[in-house]
Amino acid sequence: MRVAMVGSGYVGLVSGACFADFGHEVVCIDRDAGKVAALKAGRIPIFEPGLDDLVATNVRAGRLSFTTELAAAVHDAQAVFIAVGTPSRRGDGFADLSFVYAAAREIAAAIDGFTVVVTKSTVPVGTGDEVERIIRELRPDAEFSVVSNPEFLREGAAIQDFKRPDRIVIGANDEHGARVVSDLYRPLYLNQAPIMVTGRRTAELTKYAANAFLATKITFINEIADLCEQVGANVQEVARGIGLDNRIGTKFLHAGPGYGGSCFPKDTLALMKTAQDHGAPVRLVETVVSVNDQRKRAMARKVIAACDGSVRGKLIAVLGLTFKPNTDDMRDAPSCAIISALQDAGARIRAYDPEGMEQARAVLTDVEYATDAYSCAEGADALVLVTEWDAFRALDPARLRKALAAPVLVDLRNVYVPEEMRRHGFHYTSVGRPQGAGHPGAA
Ligand code: UDX
Repeated sequence: MRVAMVGSGYVGLVSGACFADFGHEVVCIDRDAGKVAALKAGRIPIFEPGLDDLVATNVRAGRLSFTTELAAAVHDAQAVFIAVGTPSRRGDGFADLSFVYAAAREIAAAIDGFTVVVTKSTVPVGTGDEVERIIRELRPDAEFSVVSNPEFLREGAAIQDFKRPDRIVIGANDEHGARVVSDLYRPLYLNQAPIMVTGRRTAELTKYAANAFLATKITFINEIADLCEQVGANVQEVARGIGLDNRIGTKFLHAGPGYGGSCFPKDTLALMKTAQDHGAPVRLVETVVSVNDQRKRAMARKVIAACDGSVRGKLIAVLGLTFKPNTDDMRDAPSCAIISALQDAGARIRAYDPEGMEQARAVLTDVEYATDAYSCAEGADALVLVTEWDAFRALDPARLRKALAAPVLVDLRNVYVPEEMRRHGFHYTSVGRPQGAGHPGAA
């Protein structure tokens, strides 16, 4: 099938490359000529494991190409995906749909023959209706249907998530649209991925409900972690104890510094706003958003407490800046709020991240950047692990201990074994684990 992907950002690029790998003929479109030129030259503008090889293979096979010319690509396509950004609007937090509607107008002008227009961007309920209205108004003669097909890709595991999804959700108000989009995913039938065909509004809401539920799960375990600290329980074992109940599940129960990233913060806000507008407020999600916001500064207070109550004039070394490992994405990264709270309290910050340094420099000024974890720790008064990159799990504790001026280690992702760290002479603090806890079973 011939596919046009409007928007070659994270979602568009991953989806376009994966559809091409399924055997479809895909053209990825972007307004940014620099980005298109880079892609044509084989340079991938984002860090996503496996994406460079996937793009190269499919470009070589002639199934994947890049262009700034939307009209020609859309003209030839049977399915046109809208995969442009939907950032939070300044002021009210609602999703900014201007890019989606601009894309709809451009697509309207170019469609030829029956075309299925698919919204892949995360869009509030009813956006598909508006996209349909825009196209119909501009092109009363056009034959088309508008389908919602939300993505559930995790950054860092996006290709695997695309190719081995837990489910595919297709929201269509007509049979033809549903069939065309289902056919695009045909190779996945072999993996027996459940394909759920439903109404367009239901699909749109499913995406928000999924992200809000996951954000709630994380926030729940984070509050339980705080309680664990007060009562001397171990949150990792509580999480396992509840997670083994199939109704709960073990995933997304890792306590930490609060969720961040390009999706959860933005999507929970947008859902809140939609719900308020429709007179059906999602109060639980409103609470989740505010608890998560407060948590980041609370993590800075945890660091301050570990430094005997003050970080004024002290040098704090921070390991991991991106919102999670295996990405260079700094959007809504907890590190930003934690670092600025520590700076407010008078600390000097030195930081290191394996992939996110360039992005970090743009948002975190007034920070000294180190070239590796050990030089980051050199002479610092405390070491704070914010993002759990695998490379940090394998650090040599003795070498770290020697590098630090004071043996204070604050592990906001619970990656180290407390007893081991204490054996190496660290004053070790983590999240929701009793101070004396050792290996699982010790608490
Ligand atoms: C998320 C959804 O998982 C994905 O389905 C959706 O399409 C986009 O949003 P992503 O933003 O890439 O994906 O990251 P994810 O792995 O879900 O993590 C989000 C945040 O939650 C990160 O800051 C992460 O550190 C945090 N998190 C996750 C926890 O603190 N604890 C957990 O147990 C899981």
